[in-house]
Amino acid sequence: MKTRVWVVDNIVDKQQSYPQIREAAEWLRVGEVVAFPTETVYGLGADAANTEAVEKIFAAKGRPSDNPLIVHVATMAQAESVVAAIPPLARTLMERFWPGPLTLVLPKRKGAVSERVTAGLPTVAVRMPAHPLALALIEESGLALAAPSANRSGRPSPTTAAHVLADLNGRIAGVMDGGPTGIGVESTVLDCSQTVPTILRPGGVTKEALMKVIGHVAEAAGQEHEPGAPKAPGMKYTHYAPKAPLWIVAGSPAFLQQLVEESRAEGKAVGVLTTEEHRGQYAADIVISCGTRRALETVARQLYDALRRFDDANVDLIYSEAFPEEGIGVALMNRLRKAAGGRVIHEQHE
Ligand code: TXA
Ligand code: MG
Repeated sequence: MKTRVWVVDNIVDKQQSYPQIREAAEWLRVGEVVAFPTETVYGLGADAANTEAVEKIFAAKGRPSDNPLIVHVATMAQAESVVAAIPPLARTLMERFWPGPLTLVLPKRKGAVSERVTAGLPTVAVRMPAHPLALALIEESGLALAAPSANRSGRPSPTTAAHVLADLNGRIAGVMDGGPTGIGVESTVLDCSQTVPTILRPGGVTKEALMKVIGHVAEAAGQEHEPGAPKAPGMKYTHYAPKAPLWIVAGSPAFLQQLVEESRAEGKAVGVLTTEEHRGQYAADIVISCGTRRALETVARQLYDALRRFDDANVDLIYSEAFPEEGIGVALMNRLRKAAGGRVIHEQHE
């Protein structure tokens, strides 16, 4: 299948109609899959009500079919059409955070979306993305779009159209290129189908921000430290993994550099993931600096691109610095730990 690329740099005039968006929407209406940018990562969209179309998402990604998809909407009316009801707490969160990187898990409305979207669960995950292209595409198509991240299963999520094409060229009808995404890690998934709202996956909206609005928020057990028993079905799979094994190094730059030297002495090509603050302290086969520690948003934004660049550099292993788990740092470290398959090396202090 030929994969089309529709470039839409900037939606300046919301009233204007863009032929690229009309064409992409038309492919969606006839049951094809189209990738599009959101404020978090690129998504791979299909008509959520069309089982055949949704199956094409799983086929293109090579995604396990027991992992449910997020339904993307552009209006509250669309959200209401896929869920059974919106409890007051969820409504408050939608008013505060939508459009934005918050996915809410709610009881689903029977028959509103394909069973393949929800993987047989009684709930459905819904979000309204804060990206003008995503919203325009959903509105133009008139469809609620089931959309996981637009990567091959197990690969880092795509933050540019080039990442999407690297994984899915020839496997999907097209990709809308709206430039690099802003947040860089996926949305926060919050289960609102229980009495206490529970974070199933940390993401673009921090726990602190949620607590300011609704007071009490729980975290699903095992979501980070014991990958055995997660509540979001997707959390149990290896994710975001670069090709070379990655180790998180909890320690000083000097300690990390020592590890690099030991590995290179064994003839290995080594990559280092760092930030502007420490980049000058490393000598390795490739040193990638991703943003600054003073603003972890910058690291989150570049993380997946950095992981893909290590693949291109063909390193044998990667050592990454660790980051403080505050604010967006929680989501950042969650993804980094998954990319590392849980491997952490701690510096020993005497
Ligand atoms: O930022 C994002 O959320 C991106 C963009 C494209 O919107 N999408 C994304 O989708 O990350 P995906 O499929 O890669 O991750 C969806 C997560 C998975 O962990 C899945 O298990 C969980 O949401 N999920 C979906 N439906 C669920 C449900 N009904 N109950 C619990 N978890 C659910
Ligand atoms: Mg994903």
